[in-house]
Amino acid sequence: MQEVTADSACAAQLRGSLTDELVATGTIVSKKVEAAFRMVPRHLFAPGATLEQSYAQDTVRTKRDEHGTTISAVSAPQIQAMMLEQTQLEAGMRVLEIGSGGYNAALIAELVSEGGEVTTVDIDPDVVDRARDCLAAAGYNKVNVVLADAEGGVPEHAPYDRIIVTVGAWDIPPAWSGQLAEGGRMIVPLRMRGLTRSVTFERDGDHLVSRDYRLCGFVPMQGIGSHNERVVSLDGNRVSLRIDGEQPADADRLRDALLGPRVERWSGVEGGPTEPFDDLDLWVATVVDDFGLLTATKEAIDSGLVSKSTRVGAKTMVAGGSFAYRASARPVDAERTRFEFGAYAHGPDAVRLAEDYVDLIQAWDRDHCGSPGARIEVYSSAASDAELPPGRVINKRHTRVVISWPGQRQYPNRKP
Ligand SMILES: C[S@@+](CC[C@H](N)C(=O)[O-])C[C@H]1O[C@@H](n2cnc3c(N)ncnc32)[C@H](O)[C@@H]1O
Repeated sequence: MQEVTADSACAAQLRGSLTDELVATGTIVSKKVEAAFRMVPRHLFAPGATLEQSYAQDTVRTKRDEHGTTISAVSAPQIQAMMLEQTQLEAGMRVLEIGSGGYNAALIAELVSEGGEVTTVDIDPDVVDRARDCLAAAGYNKVNVVLADAEGGVPEHAPYDRIIVTVGAWDIPPAWSGQLAEGGRMIVPLRMRGLTRSVTFERDGDHLVSRDYRLCGFVPMQGIGSHNERVVSLDGNRVSLRIDGEQPADADRLRDALLGPRVERWSGVEGGPTEPFDDLDLWVATVVDDFGLLTATKEAIDSGLVSKSTRVGAKTMVAGGSFAYRASARPVDAERTRFEFGAYAHGPDAVRLAEDYVDLIQAWDRDHCGSPGARIEVYSSAASDAELPPGRVINKRHTRVVISWPGQRQYPNRKP
């Protein structure tokens, strides 16, 4: 039993407040996840962070690469709680966590109790050493901490009732599906056309099918499963189009287009400041053939060249030498309680593209907003077109991902 010092009393108080907040915002919904968050001392897994930083709603960055990019972190508690709720852990389960740190593995160990088994794997020896030390210091000695590239899963402890991936994945390697027990669930932050959603998958015959998905962000996968987007530079390093697939992009014509005049169109579709509209983006990414994310530096945004929406990657449709992207929603009242969606476009076809984008926003509002959302299915890369259901097909290294919107008007997948 740990001695109650001023520090641990303070940590317990901060942990209680963090958990209260996660319950109040509806991120934690089950008593089990709440109890785990009240129990595990998060600060013991965040070396170098102050107590306050450990229990803030933020990611604690634990390792950066030579360019200063974060490659390992104790994920934000909101993301961890959300994914643990998606995972639906029960006592006695066998669980594989991909991407270690220790804290999340300790939460999982609490949730599966004594009879369960937790294995966590990381590609980075520093992370593995730290996770081992932190788990031991916090008293979680039974977690298997494995150093490996998770592309091959961890066969020595398989099969798993749950596989929870805590690093951004572009694909689902066969080992993960192969090591999932019958009736198991896999939670994967999967990147599809540049957009990442934490997807809960279950097996359905020869393929995986989504049960739900949530918006999330993660550090990218390293090793065999790493996959870079194509970066088309449109204005030095200031503005770029990131393309996550084989879609064509004529860099010279798009560069000229950006420097030409801008067309603006507004849709009349409004949302409140806290209403989620990430399904609008996923839907646009599904129905548009040539899709990418427009990103820009603060300087390019401040100069007025591009919208603020490029800060997080503006969802962009490309057609030849023209492109249109979703602008930052504009306030429609002085109190800034309602915002209207619209599009900016550049290039010779700017007027048509801006109007097409606004049509899409209106179609989403009419046919999809508030619907159950997308169905995401994962087939082997060996599956033929005829074996796939209708929808947007995204070809990966090992799999063919199909996104469809059940119960809604289907948009043809013109270019599989
Ligand atoms: C966000 S951190 C994991 C956070 C952790 N689950 C926690 O408790 O907060 C992502 C981790 O994935 C690891 N990773 C990246 N690529 C990997 C791969 N191919 N196989 C195993 N681990 C990988 C990184 O080294 C990094 O430590």
